[in-house]
Amino acid sequence: MRASQQAPIGMFDSGIGGLTVANALSRRLPSESLLYFGDTARVPYGPKSPDTVRRYALQIGEWLVREGVKCVVVACNTATAHALDVLQSSLPVPVVGVVEPGARAAVRASRIGPIGVIGTSGTIASGAYTRAIHRLSSHATVLAAPCPLFVPLVEEGWGDHPATRLIVREYLAPMRDARVDTLVLGCTHYPLLAPVLAAEMGPAVRLIDSAEETAVEVERILADRGLLNNAAGGHAPEPRHRFVASDAPGHFLALGRRFLDAPLTAVEYHVFT
Ligand code: DGL
Repeated sequence: MRASQQAPIGMFDSGIGGLTVANALSRRLPSESLLYFGDTARVPYGPKSPDTVRRYALQIGEWLVREGVKCVVVACNTATAHALDVLQSSLPVPVVGVVEPGARAAVRASRIGPIGVIGTSGTIASGAYTRAIHRLSSHATVLAAPCPLFVPLVEEGWGDHPATRLIVREYLAPMRDARVDTLVLGCTHYPLLAPVLAAEMGPAVRLIDSAEETAVEVERILADRGLLNNAAGGHAPEPRHRFVASDAPGHFLALGRRFLDAPLTAVEYHVFT
């Protein structure tokens, strides 16, 4: 069965953080419909074992395919780190993660290095970013550090709170000491802390948000397969976005409005049994 150009782009995250990737996709590909799944029943993925995250990711990926998506974007860094390979070998549609695009953007931005990477405990322990950066630039020096408290701070809306500034200072001290010239925000939530992170690192350090580069990659993959919604050259219909959560859709709606640039009016509920 061949996916149609009008089919939505499927995407998922452990919760709402992946909406930062949805924003980038909508900006770059405004004619594309999105089907976004947030696994709010099982968030956070960051501290969970690779096997558990892989099981969740496969369940969601297979569900997205049953819903008729033309590709799957793994908007979660932790799920990309642990499950991209298994999703790519199991699903019948193209699967794009956020780690490789982030690594590419970092290698492009870095002048003399080192390159810093921050993410959840799972993402950092997996070594996925370090491997991806070394595939692109074998001599790059990479310094990776987990920042597990950042996700709850963002979820609390404490992006600009004195406690957040203190924690940022503590976590980023090794990055400052090592004088990284580029810092990869290897977690969906971290772009929401960008002003505080930038203030701590100083203006010379480039902050890399993989969302934009991921959107470029999705566009390329869809274009290669003739699956862009405007590929026929005609007028693409208005995109239709669906947002689905596995728990507390009302909470997703309230919190999601802080993350999503477009109006968020309805969130569906789907639970895996
Ligand atoms: N979405 C996760 C990530 O990008 C952060 C939240 C979580 O731990 O589930 O790694």
